Amino acid sequence: MSSPTSIADRLPSSVRTEIEAHLRQAPQREAAISDVLRLLQQALGYIDDDTLLYAAQQTGMPPVKVEELCSFYPLVLRRPAGRHLLRICDSVSCHLAGADSLLRQAEEISGVTLGQVAKEGSYSILPHVCLGLCDRAPAALVDGHAVGGFDGDALVALLASWEHR
Ligand code: FES
Repeated sequence: MSSPTSIADRLPSSVRTEIEAHLRQAPQREAAISDVLRLLQQALGYIDDDTLLYAAQQTGMPPVKVEELCSFYPLVLRRPAGRHLLRICDSVSCHLAGADSLLRQAEEISGVTLGQVAKEGSYSILPHVCLGLCDRAPAALVDGHAVGGFDGDALVALLASWEHR
């Protein structure tokens, strides 16, 4: 297990500099937490417990509050993910448009449960809250790009294209 100190050692100096800049610019250090978490996730892939403690130290926030924020923000990853990331919206409009069966289909194709890493690290699939594309449900976030009308055919084609990539 690493420690918050070794997290600092693992960060490229450019990321440490950027974090320090956000902390300096924030009216209170706590206000920089979402930027700090974003930069840490970009650099390290996900926010494990030690990274969470590092974010808490940097911002002066109690770790339990940072943990609450991580649970609240669906874009924060608390475990390793694959090289590609598919998030399928399961909020009301998408639920009514068949998101549940899409998520089940995704588990069948990937061979793992949601949130696990599939196909030798190729990808991970997660449920997600409303993406604001309710009029084009079901919707998904494909490597950070919002896509409407994401049906079973789109799912099959996407996951096939991601395998071993
Ligand atoms: S409910 Fe899925 S995009 Fe809004």
